[in-house]
Amino acid sequence: MVSATVQKISTLQSFTDRITSREARVGIVGLGYVGLPLTLLFSAEKLRVTGFDIDRTKVDTLNAGNSYIWRIESEHIASARAHGFTATDDFTAIAEMDAILICVPTPLTEHHVPDLSYVQATIDAIAPHLHDGQLLVLESTTYPGTTEEIIVTTIEKAGRRVLRGTDLEDELNGIMVAFSPEREDPGNMETPRREVPKVIGGCDVRATAAAEALYQSIFTQTVAVSSPAAAEMTKLLENIYRAVNIAMVNEMKQLCMRMGIDIWEVINAAATKPFGFQAFYPGPGIGGHCIPVDPFYLTWKAQEYGFPTRFIQLAGEINEQMPTFVMRQVARALNFRGIATKGAKVLVLGVAYKRDVDDLRESPSLTIIELLQGLDVEVSYNDPFFPTVGHGRKYDLHMTSVPLDDLSIYDCVLIATDHSAYDYDRIVEESKLVVDTRNATRGIVSDKIIRC
Ligand SMILES: NC(=O)c1ccc[n+]([C@@H]2O[C@H](COP(=O)([O-])OP(=O)(O)OC[C@H]3O[C@@H](n4cnc5c(N)ncnc54)[C@H](O)[C@@H]3O)[C@@H](O)[C@H]2O)c1
Repeated sequence: MVSATVQKISTLQSFTDRITSREARVGIVGLGYVGLPLTLLFSAEKLRVTGFDIDRTKVDTLNAGNSYIWRIESEHIASARAHGFTATDDFTAIAEMDAILICVPTPLTEHHVPDLSYVQATIDAIAPHLHDGQLLVLESTTYPGTTEEIIVTTIEKAGRRVLRGTDLEDELNGIMVAFSPEREDPGNMETPRREVPKVIGGCDVRATAAAEALYQSIFTQTVAVSSPAAAEMTKLLENIYRAVNIAMVNEMKQLCMRMGIDIWEVINAAATKPFGFQAFYPGPGIGGHCIPVDPFYLTWKAQEYGFPTRFIQLAGEINEQMPTFVMRQVARALNFRGIATKGAKVLVLGVAYKRDVDDLRESPSLTIIELLQGLDVEVSYNDPFFPTVGHGRKYDLHMTSVPLDDLSIYDCVLIATDHSAYDYDRIVEESKLVVDTRNATRGIVSDKIIRC
């Protein structure tokens, strides 16, 4: 008879063997900006992936071999399909997976409170189909404690066992659960995704070991931490570090403008220091799914411990008022040219939240457009990634991107997003006035440019 210990070791062993032999099946829940690239990485390593998503349109598009994200080419989806990738909204197939990775949204509610309804709905749908020996990893960014409090609790309520304990001796068989934060950097073409180390924190050593075996098939380095909470906090530290430093340079920028100093020149000079300084750049505000959102997950959780997260709050305040600052700079620039804001024609270049991405989430450009419209400015926009902008959680614009034919018809051109497709020399040459929030016009000398 095989001893219990050997049996437990063999559970992990058989999991890792199935990864090595490429027999393992990987389920990715949430085929968005995170889940889809992850799908392609596993597929490229010949692991068979099933994608689960409640959005039927995405499921159908992907099954037809097409992409719906600009920077992912359809040929990569078609190639993944050829390696067995299939998308579905039927969660019964979860039972056939060796590993299941959850990549669903974690936004804030209107009251800046974590909205874990997507995570909860996902684990509610998955839990009835889970069985011993499977690995379940939460990848969605969230506050420390979520994996234990929501994922593990729901699995246990469904009558399943989650592996616990610190060594192989102390538990029977069960489901291996871990948290592993996503470090996707949209639009970053310089760092290959597989070169970004993957942090993993399992509920016990077997979960961590299984997750390391899985991720080592697609990442060159894994970094194990002692618990899911440590992994959850790692991701928040990274994003709070960014939010705080961006707020700091946004504040410095405003002071520099008053002092007649070019903040960009200062940052570039400071960045020559080979240690102790990392360059962060000012802008019109922060956007995307992560930086404006994630820090407040920690603020919310910290309240449970009676602990005020003052850096996060202050950074949030500064970053959130940047669109208003930009709106005032446009109004001021028009005023100096004797043009009333009411009826002035302003063209906003770029509505995506950052350069060369087809993502509008939390984009400061949308807030700036609404603020300018509030001053009765006639606002148009251009964005090669967004032919139209309709209605979203925080905006209601219903606008169409205008062609960049005759820029001289605008009283002001506002560079809100520095897409690389724009010809900035031409923009400055043909415009009457340019307000540049991204230093996109660096190197161009013209008294038409106001950098802010
Ligand atoms: N986008 C990024 O660059 C990025 C980077 C790091 C971390 N993250 C984090 O990763 C997570 C996912 O972000 P994203 O940008 O991929 O979101 P996304 O909105 O692009 O994709 C999420 C997908 O999940 C699907 N979904 C929602 N509820 C579901 C359910 N119950 N079952 C199955 N599918 C469901 C949606 O239809 C959508 O396709 C978030 O927690 C986010 O904070 C995102």
